[in-house]
Amino acid sequence: MDQDLETRKNKQYSRLFRRFIVLTMICSLVPLLLAGWAINIHYSRFAKERMMKTLETRVEYHKKIIELFLKENRAKLDFIVSTHSIVSLTKNDNLSQILKSVNSDSWTLTDIGIIDENGDHLAYVGPYDLIDKNYSNTLWFKEVMEKGSYTSDMFMGFRKEPHFVMAVIKKENKRRWILRATVNTDSFCSLVEDVRIGRTGEVYILNSQGIYQTSPGSGGKIMMQAPAFEGDIHDGLEFRFLEAFDKDEKTRKKIVCETWLKDPKWLLVVSVDEKELFVEVGHANRATLVSLHFSALMILVVTIFITRHMIFVIKKRDFEVEGMNNQLMEAGKLASIGELSAGVAHEINNPLAIIMTERQLLLDAEKRTAITDETLGEQFIDSLNQIGTQVLRCKHITRNLLKFARRTRSVIETVDINRFLIEVITLMEREARSDGIEFTSSLDDSLPPILSDPSQLQQVFLNFINNAIDAHKDKGHGMITLSTCLSTDNKGIDITVEDTGSGIKTKDIGKIFDPFFTTKSVGQGTGLGLSICYSIVKQLGGTIQIQSEMGKGTVFTLTFPFEPPGDLMKHG
Ligand SMILES: Nc1ncnc2c1ncn2[C@@H]1O[C@H](COP(=O)(O)OP(=O)(O)OP(=O)(O)O)[C@@H](O)[C@H]1O
Ligand SMILES: [Mg+2]
Repeated sequence: MDQDLETRKNKQYSRLFRRFIVLTMICSLVPLLLAGWAINIHYSRFAKERMMKTLETRVEYHKKIIELFLKENRAKLDFIVSTHSIVSLTKNDNLSQILKSVNSDSWTLTDIGIIDENGDHLAYVGPYDLIDKNYSNTLWFKEVMEKGSYTSDMFMGFRKEPHFVMAVIKKENKRRWILRATVNTDSFCSLVEDVRIGRTGEVYILNSQGIYQTSPGSGGKIMMQAPAFEGDIHDGLEFRFLEAFDKDEKTRKKIVCETWLKDPKWLLVVSVDEKELFVEVGHANRATLVSLHFSALMILVVTIFITRHMIFVIKKRDFEVEGMNNQLMEAGKLASIGELSAGVAHEINNPLAIIMTERQLLLDAEKRTAITDETLGEQFIDSLNQIGTQVLRCKHITRNLLKFARRTRSVIETVDINRFLIEVITLMEREARSDGIEFTSSLDDSLPPILSDPSQLQQVFLNFINNAIDAHKDKGHGMITLSTCLSTDNKGIDITVEDTGSGIKTKDIGKIFDPFFTTKSVGQGTGLGLSICYSIVKQLGGTIQIQSEMGKGTVFTLTFPFEPPGDLMKHG
């Protein structure tokens, strides 16, 4: 039954513990995590938008640089034809001087040549042997003749190498001639690739048919057809999000940004690995999430720790309250029984006194009036004696009841507990010896005297010793040991009354302090001894502990403080 109660209580505490944890999680962890994740998502979206904006700005800026490069070179050709005559330009020295000055800052033009309206070279300066070539059938020649100025796409030409040319036409003395320059492919390609982003980023140019004008990083070469080219001409920048496979066959998300150059109509393509572009955002996200989850974990651990401690404190308080309640109930029970007993004892005492008087009257009457029948006379006297014995027993019971109920005022004095116990032993020794019981003592001489009520103490110890003697009734011999020592908390003294008697059954141990609980046969005990002891010891600020083993004996340990409780000191 008690174990059931214990398990039920433990279950209640575990339920309380779980509730605390769940409540804390709902009130602190969940909002923290939700807010953390929301901020994180918001931040990463914002950061990604900023990165895309930066990418857009970089691509636009780069487009302008490429356009500026092409425009500048065309402007150089325009300037040359406007400031020089055909006569001066067909002199190789002049032409090479011009090429040198054009390339003075950086090597942008590979060669330069003057071509007449039939497509023949009039002059040429450059690393190739092209002086005797005729261009009348080439695309660029036809275009320049038609449009007046032209920038070609990449083509192989007579030199069998990818290159592109810029050409302008000039009319001089009804004669038309062309200034043609080849743009240095390497310089142009490195200029284009200048904006490459990250380890796997790519930058290249496609013409309007989707032919590579510069080589992409992977999957193609200059002058090859680009796969899946749509060729829609649009203004501004356009983004595409692709999934591509890398060398390890892993899919990678790519962001491709495209923009058309004005002249020639070329498509500048900048592609970047999404992971590489957002690597910083990823780092920041990871750091935030790690610290967020770490904080959440810390909160959880601290909550568990604090809740455990709280439950421990609650458990302790409950235990104390339960103890106090039990004590209150015990005190209440004793008080009501005391009152009842006092009333009953008082009421019974009067009829008992009358019975005793009437008995005496009958005895006197018997003496005066001789009963002739001898047997009847003896029987009459026996009966009257029996009435006397029983009335005396009743008186003994009522006296005990009144003792139990009596609220005597304690008289507090200094008591040398060792000397006091020796006196008690001397008092009881003779009675005990007649029952074959020996007394021994183990008294701590260094004990200081205590403040207590000696007459109440005497009542207590006489009760305990009487009980101990009674416990040897069946054995007919045994030992009672009284010992004293300092209490474990050093705030008082311990007195033990140990006997080698019958011992107490486990099921009875909780009941022995109840009034009227006795295992003695009818008429042998009232069952009030220990309950009187209990109330006296409590009143003097002490406690009683009990250890007992059936057949081996019982040890009662009484602990008294050096001084009784404050209120006793005042009244006493
Ligand atoms: N030292 C002991 N050894 C074994 N049993 C004991 C001992 N002390 C008390 N008891 C048990 O506790 C019961 C209650 O004791 P208590 O002193 O209150 O009443 P009682 O001794 O039976 O009656 P009374 O004290 O009126 O003679 C006893 O009947 C006995 O069973
Ligand atoms: Mg007793």
